[in-house]
Parts: sequence; C-alpha cells; structure tokens
Amino acid sequence: MQAAFITESGPPECIQFGELPDPSPGSGEVLIKTEAVAVNPIDTYIRSGAIAMPRPDTYVVGCDVAGEVLEVGSGVDRFQPGDRVWGTNQGIHGRQGTFSEKVVAGAEWLYPIPNGVSSETAAAAALVSITVGLGLYQHAKLQSGETFFVNGGSGGVGSIAVQTAKAMGAKVITTAGSDDKAEYCRSIGADLVLDYRQADMDEQLNAYLEENGKIDLWWETLREPNLERTIPLMEKRGRVILMAGRDAKPVLPLGPFYTNDLSLIGFAMFNATSAEQLAVAEKINKLLANGALVPPIGLRLPLSEAAEAHRQQEAKTLEKSSPLLGKIVLSA
Ligand SMILES: NC(=O)c1ccc[n+]([C@@H]2O[C@H](COP(=O)([O-])OP(=O)(O)OC[C@H]3O[C@@H](n4cnc5c(N)ncnc54)[C@H](OP(=O)(O)O)[C@@H]3O)[C@@H](O)[C@H]2O)c1
Repeated sequence: MQAAFITESGPPECIQFGELPDPSPGSGEVLIKTEAVAVNPIDTYIRSGAIAMPRPDTYVVGCDVAGEVLEVGSGVDRFQPGDRVWGTNQGIHGRQGTFSEKVVAGAEWLYPIPNGVSSETAAAAALVSITVGLGLYQHAKLQSGETFFVNGGSGGVGSIAVQTAKAMGAKVITTAGSDDKAEYCRSIGADLVLDYRQADMDEQLNAYLEENGKIDLWWETLREPNLERTIPLMEKRGRVILMAGRDAKPVLPLGPFYTNDLSLIGFAMFNATSAEQLAVAEKINKLLANGALVPPIGLRLPLSEAAEAHRQQEAKTLEKSSPLLGKIVLSA
C-alpha cells in the first residue's frame, strides 16, 4: 500500500511517500480501506519530535481516519466488511498512524459513520470532536443557558466547540482573526464574534458581559493562555479549560480565582479511555447525523502531499500566519 511515513523526526520534508507492506487485522482489530484522513497539530508535534511518543520505527503519520471496513479480526462484533467507520487515537501510544491506503485499528477506537455523512467530514471531525466532547460533556459539564467562550471559533477545535456548545443550549462567544472567519463563526451560530485584531476587543467583550452576565465556561485553545485576562471575566463557579501550550507558564491571579469558586480543568484527549471516547462519539454522531455539526474543510490534498499538509498545519497553529479556514483533509 502507499503510505506517508517517517523513519526519523524532523521537519515536514522528512515525511516520505511510498510503498509499505499491507497491514492485516489481529484479534479485536479492523482493517479499513482509507477514504479520508485529517491533520491535527499533534501530528506535527509527533513528526518533529517536539513531543515524545513511542512509535514504530517506520511510523505512518496521522491520528484520524475514515473509510470502509475491509476485514475484521476475531472477536470483533461491532463491525463487518462494508461498514463505513471513523476513528482517531491512531499514531499515538506506540500505535501505527493513518496516512496510508489501508489502516488497522482496534475496534474499540472506531465508530460508524452516520448515513449521509461523507468520509471527509467524518475524518475532519474525528480528533477535534472527541476532544470537544470530552471537554464539554465529561470534564466541564456545560449546561444549557450557560455562557461559553472559546478562542478561535473557526479553528479545528474552536469550530467544533462553537457548534457543539450551541447544540447544548449555551450562549456562545468566540474570536476570529479575519472578516471571513468572523462571518463563518456567525454562520455556525456564535452569538458574539470578536475580532482579536481589534484594540478595543476587551471593551466589546466587557460591554456584552455587563448586559448578559459573565462567562461560565472558558475554553482556551491558545498555546499562551492569559489567565490575568480570563479570570476576572468568569462567573462564580465558572470553569476554565486549558488544553494547549505544554511550555506555557501563565500567571494565575489567585484572589478572583478562589473567591469566586472557579475551577481550572486540564486534559489531553489521548488520556481518555476507549469507553469514554465511545460515549462521546455516540453523541457526536447524533450531531453529525442531524447536521448540527459540520467541520469546516479548508484544504483538500492527496495523501502524497502529506508533507505539504504538515507545512500548512504548522503555518496555521504554530506560526499563526495562515488565512486557512478549516481542516486539512487528505484523500487516499
Ligand atoms: N489537549 C488536547 O486533547 C488537545 C486536542 C486537540 C488540540 N489541542 C491543541 O489545541 C490547540 C488548537 O488546536 P486546533 O486544531 O484548533 O488548531 P488550529 O486549527 O490551528 O486553530 C488555532 C486557532 O487559534 C486562533 N488564534 C490564533 N491567534 C489567536 C489570538 N491571538 N486570539 C484568538 N484566537 C487566535 C486561530 O484563529 P484565526 O484562524 O482566526 O487566526 C485558530 O482558530 C493546538 O495547540 C493543539 O495542539 C489539544
């Protein structure tokens, strides 16, 4: 099969594209004919070596996959050949990745693609929707009527967070760095969209909060959280999710933090068990099926362009120099 893989860490150019042996499913595993995969920031951190994850010597990059089941190993009863499935959590914890024409994954990490949902949509939603679901449903328990803030409402995580929070009945505030991204955020239901390039953004936010009440749940997607700014904006018993920025050391203003019964929640999606992720995936599948959740796709490439896909993802997440709106999806 054709695959995008690395044999050592390095820049995007270290990704090779070529022939690898076809994998076959062992007990409890499923062989998938890949139709679409999507890029996430973690793919680039693993490739570059910025985060140390155990990985096979010849490591196929990528975590997300969507496609058709070709074969199932012994003991798999949730799927059969011909089923369409999506999944994430491959390419981590020593598991092989997904940017290949065929992928073997443990059945416990796979979910059916709802009827009417394309493989590229399922792949684009995979890691980010599990992340958002874990954050909103499991960790922070967002309630209907609460005010929810997320930075970067057109980003991979942000766009799913806006739509999921809206579907859960929250009032949603988000930010964007261009007019078209702000327009997109409004189109997916954000109640207030702030342009983070504007010097008076905080005044606009404060004016809105004075009228509507403070923020119950703040989801920080930025790798450099500014808690001195965030904490005073929080409602009593508010929660702040921090899930990016391994080297960040933000200052915590303790007075307004503990005297308002606030909580900080940190999590990494890859720590969640397969049962926890399955519970989230079932909720996500309902949103995908009824059209409440549609991940934006900003760039489509063939699998052979995996290195370019990583360059584009790095420009977006690390260099913050990309006009790209939406996920990068590759077809096999
Ligand atoms: N802990 C976990 O389990 C987990 C899971 C998934 C992702 N992550 C991490 O979460 C982060 C986001 O991932 P992603 O896939 O959403 O990345 P992404 O698609 O690159 O999105 C980044 C977002 O940040 C926004 N942004 C940039 N500068 C900003 C600023 N000054 N103010 C407000 N927003 C700003 C961008 O908005 P514009 O495009 O409008 O500029 C964009 O929407 C990454 O660091 C990733 O590693 C963690």
